[in-house]
Amino acid sequence: MNEHQTVSVKLGENSHQYEIKLGHDLLENSGNWARICLSEKNARIVIVSNPKIFRLYGEIVRKSLENADFEVFVFLMKDGERHKNLRSLEMLLKFNGENKLARTDAVVALGGGVVGDLAGFAAAVFLRGIAFLQIPTTLLAMIDSSVGGKTGVNSDFGKNLIGAFHQPNGVLIDVKTLKTLPKRELTAGFCEAVKHGAISNRQLFDQTADFLKKFPTKNFKKFFSDHDFFAELENLLAAQVAFKAEIVMNDEREAAARTDAKSRKILNFGHTLAHALEKATDYKYFKHGEAVGYGILFAAELSKILVILDTNELKLLNDVLQDVGKLPDTKNIEIEKVVQAFSFDKKNIGKSLQWILLKEIGKPVIFSNNDIPVSSIQKVLRKVLRKK
Ligand SMILES: NC(=O)c1ccc[n+]([C@@H]2O[C@H](COP(=O)([O-])OP(=O)(O)OC[C@H]3O[C@@H](n4cnc5c(N)ncnc54)[C@H](O)[C@@H]3O)[C@@H](O)[C@H]2O)c1
Ligand SMILES: [Zn+2]
Repeated sequence: MNEHQTVSVKLGENSHQYEIKLGHDLLENSGNWARICLSEKNARIVIVSNPKIFRLYGEIVRKSLENADFEVFVFLMKDGERHKNLRSLEMLLKFNGENKLARTDAVVALGGGVVGDLAGFAAAVFLRGIAFLQIPTTLLAMIDSSVGGKTGVNSDFGKNLIGAFHQPNGVLIDVKTLKTLPKRELTAGFCEAVKHGAISNRQLFDQTADFLKKFPTKNFKKFFSDHDFFAELENLLAAQVAFKAEIVMNDEREAAARTDAKSRKILNFGHTLAHALEKATDYKYFKHGEAVGYGILFAAELSKILVILDTNELKLLNDVLQDVGKLPDTKNIEIEKVVQAFSFDKKNIGKSLQWILLKEIGKPVIFSNNDIPVSSIQKVLRKVLRKK
């Protein structure tokens, strides 16, 4: 296999240990990688993808899996968040059944978070759980959704509310696939990267900010001929993945009672507003990561107004978000609709809403809604959403 970096994920007794491999030009060798992650017994494998991604990268992966002696089947779901639903799940389960997949067979997700969440959930429930591999092809999926074992689908009563924890047997990140990623998706992924930077430590925050200064998303494709770019991109993504893995290893199932700075809950930094913005616009206007971009600004402003975050730190966060790329305009979004949408957040069911705020970069704190005046929330909302 080509030169690559490895991040190991070690989980509790009931789960297993697996590795995340990261580098470039790795797809060509995905068959051998899959063989190493799985066992000699795994004979059949279903590639789950969508037509757009499969056209770009599917045949390379298929060929490589076949060369490693897998019998390969291909299931293509429709592209888009709205197809991450029970209907697509049922179609995939039926496909697995028709192709006589057994307990010793496997599913590999080739795509973004939508494909990964659906394929992972199907692997979790088919025959009560079969092996699962991830080949993420969006920035968001590389640093976030492919790490941590959360799988699931959307339904009438909300996003991601039906799902399971099902850890993959391995994750293969080939950063070269980002060359074809649309700019908005890149910006959305970098918003999640900034989120990780903000809640982890100054080193990851600075590494992310410096990378964005040096390689602006505006001209991203152009850098793919630059050797330094690959090295820096791979180092950044490895650090991002390692941070997410560390949180997951510490709190695999997001224990409800935990409110400490290493709880998996802190990954929801910026997400309370993001979910509300997505809901208030019927999930049609924002890419999830773009909404997180506004969510970070909001959480940071709120932290400042509550006098827990220093103005200089707030400025650093504002500056780095200028470099992720353009976020959609928010001037036509009704503030009242956003406030109403807060009460639908799943983290809010049966208890008071929790806000992840910042004391400084790398020091997240969890606040209960009762501790924050509604007037402060509205004031900050107006400031953040009416800025542009
Ligand atoms: N499981 C988790 O822990 C977790 C965490 C965060 C987000 N998510 C989920 O992830 C999903 C969002 O994932 P996403 O942002 O990757 O979106 P996505 O999967 O919809 O992909 C975005 C778009 O990019 C296209 N695409 C993917 N790779 C490409 C490539 N290399 N070149 C060109 N086009 C490409 C896709 O076809 C799609 O149109 C949401 O459903 C969200 O709920 C899950
Ligand atoms: Zn997110």
